[in-house]
Amino acid sequence: MAIDINEILKKAENLPHNFHTAIKVSKMLDDFNVSISKLSEVIGVDQALSAKVLKHCNSAQYGFSRKITTIKDAIAKIGFKTLKSMIFAIVSKSSFNQEIKGYGLAKGELWRNSISCAVYSRYLAEITCYSDPDQAFTAGLLRDIGKLVIHEYVKNEYDKIIYLIETENISFLDAEEKILGFSHSKIGGLVGEKWKFPKVLIDVIKYHHTPLTVDLKEIEDINLLNIIHVADLLTIMLGYGIGRDGMLYNADLSCLANLGIELSEPIVEALISDMANLSTEIDSLVSSIE
Ligand SMILES: [Fe+2]
Repeated sequence: MAIDINEILKKAENLPHNFHTAIKVSKMLDDFNVSISKLSEVIGVDQALSAKVLKHCNSAQYGFSRKITTIKDAIAKIGFKTLKSMIFAIVSKSSFNQEIKGYGLAKGELWRNSISCAVYSRYLAEITCYSDPDQAFTAGLLRDIGKLVIHEYVKNEYDKIIYLIETENISFLDAEEKILGFSHSKIGGLVGEKWKFPKVLIDVIKYHHTPLTVDLKEIEDINLLNIIHVADLLTIMLGYGIGRDGMLYNADLSCLANLGIELSEPIVEALISDMANLSTEIDSLVSSIE
């Protein structure tokens, strides 16, 4: 029997406290006239977040020769866009770095999976000349946020989901939809709307498994969606915290062509090799973000 979607959304009504500043900062940064002073004032109100931003800015990841001691200093050094993606990563960690039982993910696996997808998304954005690689990082990071909301329901209905996959030969996502009445991407999109995420992120969360189904008039940034779908696929292929649904995946390879990436064996092999070379950066981010 399908579960009442309103019941799920009600439970997810309250935005995890630490996302508030991230969304506020994100909205401020959409205003091109925002000042460094105003921005650092808003971030500074959240002292725990400020301390984490400064700690991360001073990590080996950035390798600055001089210690960064203020948020103003951090903004001047890393820039608005990178700051925004860094804040989303910091505020996501406590939610993503937990055991996600329904998807068979031990503590830390969804976090590593999300950081991997974020790093791959940023890399794909860079090689395809997408205008905002940091935006791609954040979208890749948050695309599976719906799993946080429904993993308990998936756990309870797991046997039915697997039975359906085996008997009807459908993907995990389709089985979620049939058994629960919604998938993690659908519920993630609805929760993103409730939490007032930027629309461009909501679109990606909602359609990251089904880019072909989107109405181009409705979606804000189809290039970003193509990037995240390919990054998600590469994350699965490279095996970072794939969980139970990873092996039953519907890949839409037309997204590669849409990004101008040729679907040939040498090109795909080179792409996978590039991604594998990003593992040091992923390891460093997974451990340095607090
Ligand atoms: Fe997903």
